Amino acid sequence: MVELAPSIPADPRLALLHEACDEICDTDRTQVIDPYYRVAAEAIKLETMPGGHLTAPVLEAFEAHENIGYPITPYTMVHLLCRSLHFYALQREIPGYPHEYGPDAGNATAAWRELAGTAASDPSRELQQVINHRTINSTVPERARGMEIVASLFPERFRGAHGLDIGANFGFLHQCLVDPRLRTALGLNLVDDHGVTSHRLTGHLLRQLGAPEHLQPLIGTSLGIDIVDCRHPVNTAWALHCSVTPGELMRDRYRYETLEQEHVRAVEHSPNVQQLVQLEWGDIFTQHAEGSAAHRFLRSLGRAAIGQPRRFDFTTALTVGYLFDEEKRRELIDQMMHLTQPDGLLFVQDTCRAVPPTADRPEPYNLAFEPNIYRKPWLYRLLVYDKLQPEEGWQELMTYRTPRCLEARLGDGRLRVGKEALSIFDRMSM
Ligand SMILES: C[S@@+](CC[C@H](N)C(=O)[O-])C[C@H]1O[C@@H](n2cnc3c(N)ncnc32)[C@H](O)[C@@H]1O
Repeated sequence: MVELAPSIPADPRLALLHEACDEICDTDRTQVIDPYYRVAAEAIKLETMPGGHLTAPVLEAFEAHENIGYPITPYTMVHLLCRSLHFYALQREIPGYPHEYGPDAGNATAAWRELAGTAASDPSRELQQVINHRTINSTVPERARGMEIVASLFPERFRGAHGLDIGANFGFLHQCLVDPRLRTALGLNLVDDHGVTSHRLTGHLLRQLGAPEHLQPLIGTSLGIDIVDCRHPVNTAWALHCSVTPGELMRDRYRYETLEQEHVRAVEHSPNVQQLVQLEWGDIFTQHAEGSAAHRFLRSLGRAAIGQPRRFDFTTALTVGYLFDEEKRRELIDQMMHLTQPDGLLFVQDTCRAVPPTADRPEPYNLAFEPNIYRKPWLYRLLVYDKLQPEEGWQELMTYRTPRCLEARLGDGRLRVGKEALSIFDRMSM
């Protein structure tokens, strides 16, 4: 392996990685999950690493992902590296981690650099295996809250519906829609533009979602697909570690245990409510030709006994598109369009917004993703594309302060109900 001179990023991917690190480091500190990204990104900026420890491993990881037809963007590489270091430190029980790696620690940057150096030069190549072969598998049940609200307010479009969740991870999202005992929406603070919690709206939701007569499935059946079977023990630890930051562990040591319990609950409930299908890398993007991987995938939908195996009433992709480049995002939207019934709904929840269509980015690809997900708050949105009113294009239903989904503002997107197009506000005032 060639050791590059630390300050000369000879490979364009390294130059882009440096840019991504710089941008994440320059992000307003208060908005970043401190200390994880700010300090870790600083430590993995290759020129600051003694001897450029991570140069060769990062290049190898970029290539490993390219070789399996799944190229990784520089921002995703930063996230993946941060999470891999976090995983490494927790698995190896590195003394002092995470407490000595926080903003209040004496020299957190030095600690992260040392960790990165140790992990990168570890003869067992554990870090390398992780960055070469893993994707980001972060998930928190709270991300289901927006969909729970929408499904509860528009029963005409959801009751008895068949849903497909792409990038399902543990399957939290559709579990909550199918099983009321797992519901999370009541923990969401709906705020106005001034950040004031709207008691009227939360009161309404309480009645809508919490009253005993409403403790029923919001949808019919659901299928989750992912390239990783996150319920397999080998993958579970990685997915759980991805879903908590060192900062969260420092502040709330029960966060991990809570998530683990949620995961166990979701898995326990899943035989009746959801089948998770594991895809191979890139399967979701292949055409549905006879004998192709995607054809096998469609047959497996039949096996999952969801009634109408060919098309779904709604498809969801939450926190998936941000991992991809523009081309793969288009393929994702193509697949969602293909897999959704002609009168169905597509939902994307991500750090993206709908922008006016242009020649380069026509409908329905007119979603602009923000690569630095921590640039500022209120970037993570729930968007809908209603096939019954394609002229409306992508519409905003909800914006969250962060992808942890504790606070949200409502958007004015509308769903078609009979002859009318109704927003969440309309439905709440009925
Ligand atoms: C950041 S996690 C989000 C999980 C969950 N949807 C959420 O919002 O909490 C992204 C998930 O997408 C999955 N994924 C990545 N590429 C995929 C693909 N091509 N097809 C299906 N799933 C994919 C990953 O394995 C991972 O579980």
